[in-house]
Amino acid sequence: SPEVKLAVFGRAGVGKSALVVRLLTKRFIWEYDPTLESTYRHQANIDDEMVSMEILDTAGQEDTQQREGHMRWGDGFVIVYDITDRVSFEEVAPLRGLLEEVKKPKHVPLVLIGNKADLEHARQVATEEGERLAADMACAFYECSACSDQGGGVAEAFHELCREVRRR
Ligand code: GTP
Ligand code: MG
Repeated sequence: SPEVKLAVFGRAGVGKSALVVRLLTKRFIWEYDPTLESTYRHQANIDDEMVSMEILDTAGQEDTQQREGHMRWGDGFVIVYDITDRVSFEEVAPLRGLLEEVKKPKHVPLVLIGNKADLEHARQVATEEGERLAADMACAFYECSACSDQGGGVAEAFHELCREVRRR
């Protein structure tokens, strides 16, 4: 079956690992090693076809050289910010810029996730801001919670990214 390599980027603590664990196990893990970088294999039926994903959960604190290596490795990318962390939102555009630079002249399949949507009381980034940024980057946008994941938005985001990769 087709195989796609996906890498997850975003500032430290936005919930990259929690999102990947949610996708793989349908569970939320409160205590998860924060900085380890790992790859996981995952299979899903997407539009009646089995798709194999290799998912790289990057560490938010990796250096530029590691980051560029991971960007070269991937076919498609999830950029995550935390809706309760304004700075994490401001780091999205630079990450996307680096992706474009590393992958040039190829199109970069991308989805944007605003995570921790369960923490509405602490929100610092409006939904419309996420939507606008995604529109600027011409990519799909999802507000998700790795913690509660009502409606399966986490899987939907990863599946849409697989579709985007395979369209090219
Ligand atoms: P690094 O690996 O250090 O870059 O961080 P990360 O992006 O992998 O973040 P991680 O998944 O380790 O989550 C950081 C903290 O946020 C942990 O305490 C998680 O339990 C918490 N967290 C992650 N996702 C959510 C969420 O959707 N809602 C809430 N309330 N907490 C979350
Ligand atoms: Mg992590």
